[in-house]
Amino acid sequence: MGLRTVGDGALAKPLIEEVESYWDRRPCNIRHSPLPRGTLAWSQQITARKNFVEPHIVAFADFARWKDKRVLEIGCGIGTDTMRFLRAGAAVDAVELSSESMNAAHERVGLEFPNERPSLRLFHANAEEWLPEGPYDLVYSFGVLHHTPHPERALRLAHERLKTEGELRIMLYATWALKNFLRQQPEAQGGCPLAKRYTAREARKLLAGCGFRAISIHKAHIFPYRVKDYVEYRYVKQWPFRIMPQPMFAWLESALGNHLLIVGRKA
Ligand SMILES: C[S@@+](CC[C@H](N)C(=O)[O-])C[C@H]1O[C@@H](n2cnc3c(N)ncnc32)[C@H](O)[C@@H]1O
Repeated sequence: MGLRTVGDGALAKPLIEEVESYWDRRPCNIRHSPLPRGTLAWSQQITARKNFVEPHIVAFADFARWKDKRVLEIGCGIGTDTMRFLRAGAAVDAVELSSESMNAAHERVGLEFPNERPSLRLFHANAEEWLPEGPYDLVYSFGVLHHTPHPERALRLAHERLKTEGELRIMLYATWALKNFLRQQPEAQGGCPLAKRYTAREARKLLAGCGFRAISIHKAHIFPYRVKDYVEYRYVKQWPFRIMPQPMFAWLESALGNHLLIVGRKA
């Protein structure tokens, strides 16, 4: 497993610096476990909680499908999905803007793969400016490109790195989302400097401008829990989700979920 810093130092643009320092201060999902950092149980609990709160990721990423394939992950955060690709047998290159997040990812991989040399390279870089050489079978980016000032730059680079028959799988925040109507923070942890939202039409346009065509766009994910309990690791559903039958909740997620799940190919 490699751990590298790359790029030409051009991270010195104010907005991208703000984005970087925000995720440095609070790496995504780092509080998913109250256990002592640096333990295997801590790392595993982070994955378990993510799986519990965002169960749709497993079907969307379709980890098992990428066995023996090359995956590029843009914005790997603290490495939860990265490790799921590794476990499925993929060779993963992951790029992350926040060094604190990347260090946590590195630490977790060390804890979870102690006696193995997983096929992973972690790069500290701004994906708008630099991505490792491909070619890749999959470019995956979950909840990242709406946080970067110029997502089209990262997508154009991704297009160059993807095999002709490769796939792009990205999650962007949805405009037509219950969470947006309720005017809640798009990030559970407030103060995020940049969190854009996209309609399906805007997402198609974004992809088309970067040489991709969207082959499917679905919505998922409504967060049903009371935040004041959730931060204490209790899962108490808030009204009306408490009384909502599961099929109705599933329908509501597909209509007004916060996550736009996009699969694309080269146009
Ligand atoms: C909401 S977190 C998602 C992390 C991870 N994909 C996950 O699902 O747990 C967004 C991540 O994107 C990273 N990020 C934002 N802009 C980036 C860029 N231009 N290049 C690389 N990473 C970026 C942030 O540092 C942060 O770790």
